[in-house]
Amino acid sequence: MKPIHRTSRATCTAPPAHPSVATWTSFLALGLLAAMGCGDSGQSVEAPETIDGRQVFRHDTFGSERFWTDTLRMHEVIQDGVSPATALAVGLKGDAGALPRGILDSADLDDPATTVELLRLGAVLGIEGSVREGRLQEVGVTCALCHSTVDDSVAPGIGRRLDGHANRDLDPGLILSLSPALQDPDSQAALTSWGPGRYDAYWNLDGVSDPALIPPIYGLQGVEVETYTGEGPISYWNAYVAVTQMGGIGTFVDPRLGIDIQASPDLVTPKLPALLDYQLSLDSPAVPPGSFDAAAAERGRTLFEGKAGCSGCHTGPTLTDANERLHRPDETGMDPRLAQRATTGLYRTTPLRALSAHAPYFHDGSAATLAAVVEHYDSFLRLRLADAEKADLVEFLRSL
Ligand code: HEC
Ligand code: HEC
Repeated sequence: MKPIHRTSRATCTAPPAHPSVATWTSFLALGLLAAMGCGDSGQSVEAPETIDGRQVFRHDTFGSERFWTDTLRMHEVIQDGVSPATALAVGLKGDAGALPRGILDSADLDDPATTVELLRLGAVLGIEGSVREGRLQEVGVTCALCHSTVDDSVAPGIGRRLDGHANRDLDPGLILSLSPALQDPDSQAALTSWGPGRYDAYWNLDGVSDPALIPPIYGLQGVEVETYTGEGPISYWNAYVAVTQMGGIGTFVDPRLGIDIQASPDLVTPKLPALLDYQLSLDSPAVPPGSFDAAAAERGRTLFEGKAGCSGCHTGPTLTDANERLHRPDETGMDPRLAQRATTGLYRTTPLRALSAHAPYFHDGSAATLAAVVEHYDSFLRLRLADAEKADLVEFLRSL
């Protein structure tokens, strides 16, 4: 891994202030200036062709230690009060592959020092820490925090990594609410209201709190626009999140959002192609054989493609028309708020895959089960499906 160049200086451009969210915006500006490393970041940039996308996805913090350590002071929060039991309770996951054999038999899961040791071993999904003499010096976050989980093969919350699966146990708002920098009442009210599996990727910019479900990111091959609102291709959104949400040191410019953040060196942009390749390599998990009734699913397919009209939008190999068009919220009876805050004003038809593996459904989790999805469409689109037809349609969705 050959570094191209070492840190020079970052160009520091604060994001615009939104008058109605002055408190949070000024905090963000401070955080981003810190995150952007106005001064030496000490990080090096690799030549793009040597970059390993899986390594980036799992372990690269993009220099976000500036934000999570210097601004949010999460290293102190963890050191002083986050035992492994607490970490598991807020949905953090342990990588069995990084744990020395037998360590869980003797470790004290109620002692924050054990968490620090697990971070030293690199065994906490999505959190990278550096430890010196038992003290956590700094922490940063990676994509794996929200977009991977484990198979629970060792214990609940501890097992083999499952990259690309949404971590629907993770409570990012609750974790952020522990930061000493976010103790103001408005931030506390917002962050503690999100709940597990949800995150608001615009809140720190527009001050509105209306979180979306963390989506699975497998099976996106052939889907050209990403996010619930079709904001742009994968790498556009990866850069947005790495720079404006994770607090990584990188360049992200979008005049539509009024964001112009330039960083040099840029610890994000050179990694985007490898990160994209890795995401596209993540296939949807197979549907367990025998987990659905094949004959009913076949009848459900006929309804999906016919009377129920689903394939008007859920079409092609990925079961989405995302490459051709997006949809107004009132076409499918969706809550319009997320669309209104995003740049498109519209929703992308979600590609349907491994549905049984990631309840609840829709961007806001408003359908708890696949039966609730079918009920929603039946009443909103006035389909008048018989109960047996609804059941068949659910079996078809379970087969995907
Ligand atoms: C704090 C949690 C969190 C982190 C960290 C995070 N994401 Fe996400 N990600 C989300 C949420 C929430 C959405 C849904 C946003 C939306 O659609 O408006 C999302 C959406 C996505 C999507 C779109 C999926 C689709 O179906 O179109 C991709 C791809 C993605 N993230 C990849 C990444 C990568 C790569 C990283 C690291 C650079 C990352 N995410 C970091 C929470 C996170
Ligand atoms: C007019 C276009 C359109 C039609 C018709 C349509 N859908 Fe959708 N579908 C969407 C959009 C847009 C979304 C994303 C909505 C959101 O998340 O807010 C979606 C989301 C879904 C989801 C959620 C997937 C997930 O992972 O969250 C399921 C399941 C689904 N649709 C099934 C169906 C079924 C079954 C039918 C037929 C009864 C149907 N859809 C008809 C556009 C459509």
